Amino acid sequence: MSRTCCQITDAQFDEGVAKQNLKDYLSRGPAKHTKLILQAVRSLRLKNASLLDVGGGIGIIHHELMQDVVERAVHVDASSAYLKIAKEESAKRGAADAVQFIHADFTDVETEIEEVDIVTLDRVVCCYPDFQRLLTAAGRHGRRALALTYPQETWYFKAVSRLANFVQRLRKDPFRVFIHPVAQMESLLRELGFARTQTKRIFLWEMSLYEKK
Ligand SMILES: C[S@@+](CC[C@H](N)C(=O)[O-])C[C@H]1O[C@@H](n2cnc3c(N)ncnc32)[C@H](O)[C@@H]1O
Repeated sequence: MSRTCCQITDAQFDEGVAKQNLKDYLSRGPAKHTKLILQAVRSLRLKNASLLDVGGGIGIIHHELMQDVVERAVHVDASSAYLKIAKEESAKRGAADAVQFIHADFTDVETEIEEVDIVTLDRVVCCYPDFQRLLTAAGRHGRRALALTYPQETWYFKAVSRLANFVQRLRKDPFRVFIHPVAQMESLLRELGFARTQTKRIFLWEMSLYEKK
């Protein structure tokens, strides 16, 4: 029987990984790729906004944006361990009631989730095989903007991901890394009414901000 997105990511992003992520975040702040999303969202100068963070991991984007931009958030993640740690951290920050946590493959539950001002996907499309399905679902929820990070389409990232996926196959682990075509992601979001207004690169990652036209 084939395994679901949640089963695959639960195994990949377990409690040990989640706790280490939280430790890193608390000692060093958000990772550089996440900072690019935070800066892009802050550049929109929104206040009391609503956020949907798809594949939000330990919740860094809403922990940060609730300080100045976001009033309420929905955090959907296929990893139960990440969600548990995100929820505990939100409670410590007194924000638990302002965040709705959903353990699911976002594409399975998207119709139950309302539109928001901002949608974010930080390093999520590269964990999901069907970027059209994921981005179409995400794009439908963004009233103002959508910000995402994804691997740059470089030969060295492609080589690294091919090697990583080969090792995964040998280990009989179904988790894979995907480098999706950036031009096709852009044209899909354009069809949903977005225009790319910012692109920044850092090491292996690229961040793009899309705003509703
Ligand atoms: C590499 S982690 C990134 C976590 C966090 N955004 C960050 O950058 O630190 C990818 C996350 O996306 C989640 N994910 C992947 N596909 C998903 C989907 N279809 N629905 C919900 N979560 C998904 C995984 O469970 C995992 O938490």
